[in-house]
Amino acid sequence: MSPLKRNAVAGESSKLPRHIAVIMDGNGRWAKRRGLPRSAGHSAGADSFRKAARYCQKLGVEYLTVYAFSTENWKRPADEVAGIMSLLEKYLRQALRDLEKEKVRICIFGDLAPFAPELQRLCRECMDRSSVYTGAQVNICLNYGGRDEIVRAARRWAADGCPELSEQVFGSYMWGGNIPDPDLLIRPGGEKRISNFLLWECAYAEFYFSDVLWPDFDEKEFDKAIAAYQERQRRFGDIGDNEA
Ligand code: FPP
Repeated sequence: MSPLKRNAVAGESSKLPRHIAVIMDGNGRWAKRRGLPRSAGHSAGADSFRKAARYCQKLGVEYLTVYAFSTENWKRPADEVAGIMSLLEKYLRQALRDLEKEKVRICIFGDLAPFAPELQRLCRECMDRSSVYTGAQVNICLNYGGRDEIVRAARRWAADGCPELSEQVFGSYMWGGNIPDPDLLIRPGGEKRISNFLLWECAYAEFYFSDVLWPDFDEKEFDKAIAAYQERQRRFGDIGDNEA
């Protein structure tokens, strides 16, 4: 039996997270353990991502945000970068074919300018054509950095003539605009750091770290992460029920 509390009352910490963010880490080690090239790990990671998106949609999670390529990942060997680019291209082409079946809104967070023109075109076409779907949203972070996002937000805010500032106004300049912040940030792969991911948005996210490598992070692992989240007491700076 799944450990998830699916029918929890809105407002309780036991409810399903509306927004899950994932740092898809461990592809390289997954491949190495099997004597395979790193590209095979990324390919398995892309499969894991597709399954995760479907599972989150099935559970009723409204937003899934994944870290697919950071502003720092350009430092990797050229053939590894090219491999990830071709996986992205393959995913986007398939997503365009499956749009009507999957009914998921796809957004890309990050500056697309350095990508090949065809990859940029596919990203834009996916975003445009899927924007009609409002049930579930998948955000793919590409050439993304959390600090870079904040600096760009500040530049855009200044270019808009510095409208009166509040957290909500500034948040609207982030890549996701005013979508709800992640409730749960999952990092598989054994590392326990945020790696410049969603620095603004994760102010109150619950963190879940797992030693399982991303290609092996299946439905059972998602259930465990969500069950752990449901056990947390979210306080948002308040004293919480235990102290009352
Ligand atoms: C981190 O693992 C993973 C990446 C930098 C790339 C993630 C890319 C994908 C999952 C494929 C493309 C994505 C989509 C959305 C189709 P790592 O290589 O740092 O692993 P390691 O720590 O074991 O070396």
